Amino acid sequence: MSQMPIVSLLDEARRLVENGQRVRVLWQQSDSLVFIARGREYRSEFHINPSDETMYMIKGEMRLHYRTADGKEEVAVIPEGAMIYTPAGTPHSPRFPPDAFALISERKRREGEVDRFQWYCSKCDNLLHEETFIVRDYAEDPVSKAYRRFFENESFRTCKKCSAVMPAI
Ligand SMILES: [Fe+2]
Repeated sequence: MSQMPIVSLLDEARRLVENGQRVRVLWQQSDSLVFIARGREYRSEFHINPSDETMYMIKGEMRLHYRTADGKEEVAVIPEGAMIYTPAGTPHSPRFPPDAFALISERKRREGEVDRFQWYCSKCDNLLHEETFIVRDYAEDPVSKAYRRFFENESFRTCKKCSAVMPAI
């Protein structure tokens, strides 16, 4: 890779459609980790990132579900061409259709930092389950790995408070 890569966002988005993948990492440096994500309409979890994030909508609209400091779920709508800044530690869940594309900027994780993925009960909002990951390489797609573990295990999806079961996808 060139030392100062110049990337066409629309070309990279097209490439994601062609190869069927969800994420394309543009670069990963200690203070700058940037990737394009294609819509994850199915996202249900909240990601707690030790790094700040910015999200820019290249195409389409994002509904960013997030949880406030007192645990309330809110939704921020980010239209095409707009950008949001999400401080480190904010539980957030970016939801957008498969024909929408977002440019996400974070930084590479530092030694000892852990990413957390949480699911909440859709009936009573109790915490269902948390997966933790040490993200060494974003190309390994830690979000998909967390999903596999969560959805393969029905007890993770069963609410300890009201017994509702989140259906498998
Ligand atoms: Fe529940």
